[in-house]
Order: sequence, then structure tokens, then C-alpha cells
Amino acid sequence: MPMLTVTTRDGSVRALDGQVGLSVMEAIRDGGIDELAAVCGGCCSCATCHVYVDAADLARLPPMSADEDDLLDVSEHRTERSRLSCQIAMFDGLRVEIAPED
Ligand code: FES
Repeated sequence: MPMLTVTTRDGSVRALDGQVGLSVMEAIRDGGIDELAAVCGGCCSCATCHVYVDAADLARLPPMSADEDDLLDVSEHRTERSRLSCQIAMFDGLRVEIAPED
């Protein structure tokens, strides 16, 4: 199974197994980390699944949709590494950090 490394808001680093086909949000939730509210359940309409993607992995991700871009724009914590984790598919070796809560 692909390995996902997640840094939580307190700086703890967790390595999670994630199934192919899951979104990163689902893998984080299924891995027992409860810091992502993921209020909309992955429908790209809430932005409560905000993560920062490791700089080395950014180029491996598909471009974000206009909806994802618009949602991230309302976050005070948006950076160049921001993505919505429900919009990213798992792949082996991906590293993300959970963004501060807005
Ligand atoms: S879970 Fe709502 S936008 Fe990702």
C-alpha cells in the first residue's frame, strides 16, 4: 500500500498506509488523525481538509481545479504548497502537513 507521511498541527509525524484510490483526506481520516474536519465529505465545497504538500511532491500532483483554487483563496493560511486533501489521490511517498484551522 502507498505510504503517506503526515505532520499534524502539534508537529508530530505519522506514517500511514493508504489504499490506492483513496483521497489523501480519506487516508488521513482512516489513519485515525482527527484534525481534518472534512465537513463536506470530499465534495470540494468546504476547505476544511486544507494541507500543505511537501515542496518535492508538488510537481507530482495534478493541477488544482478552479473550485479548489477559489476555496483555498478564502483561507488565511494559504501558501504556495496549499491543496485540499480531498482533491489529491494517494501515491506512495507523499508527504503532507495539516494546515492550521481557519
Ligand atoms: S473535505 Fe470539503 S473541500 Fe475537502
